[in-house]
Amino acid sequence: MAINLASASTLLSSSILLLLFASSCSSTRFGLPASSGNVLKNGEVLGTEKFLSIGNYTFIMQKDCNLVLYENHDAIWDSNTPEMGNNCSLVLQSNGELQILSELGAPVWRTEIAGEYGKYALVLQPNGNVVVYGSPIWSTGTQTQSKTTYAPPRKTVSQNP
Ligand SMILES: *[C@@H]1O[C@H](CO)[C@@H](O)[C@H](O)[C@H]1NC(C)=O
Ligand SMILES: *[C@@H]1O[C@H](CO)[C@@H](O)[C@H](O)[C@H]1NC(C)=O
Repeated sequence: MAINLASASTLLSSSILLLLFASSCSSTRFGLPASSGNVLKNGEVLGTEKFLSIGNYTFIMQKDCNLVLYENHDAIWDSNTPEMGNNCSLVLQSNGELQILSELGAPVWRTEIAGEYGKYALVLQPNGNVVVYGSPIWSTGTQTQSKTTYAPPRKTVSQNP
């Protein structure tokens, strides 16, 4: 599946392309375009064959629709969704829920854990763990939809005798 860096490089005749390629060589062990870094923010999409990477870890939305975390070339976690859609993409929703969507936009997989609407970031950590961060720290609780009022944990505790 992988095209290694050496064979891919021989295809490039332009020295400018070679320079660009060399600058991202640490992220090309799958023979793919450069890594999108190690953070995916909400609203951002990790498209088919796009990946996050740091150190020996690669978190990739594979062509087969499986989302896989590799340590070097060993898969250490996956979403178990191979062949469940075409051209799948990974999306971090603005409520912190992570979803794999098929080409048609149908959810193929989701974390089923959502929080308040806000800012979230998925981080592929240097220790090999993938974590979604971001939840409200404080709020006035004055939004018009009372259902979604957020009570800070400390306040909740102090209200319960
Ligand atoms: C990355 O993997 C290589 C090969 O297994 C290993 O030698 C190296 O120590 C690893 N690097 C880190 C930072 O764990
Ligand atoms: C895959 O999806 C992306 C984003 O929607 C689109 O740009 C691309 O053309 C699609 N590729 C294929 C092979 O359908």
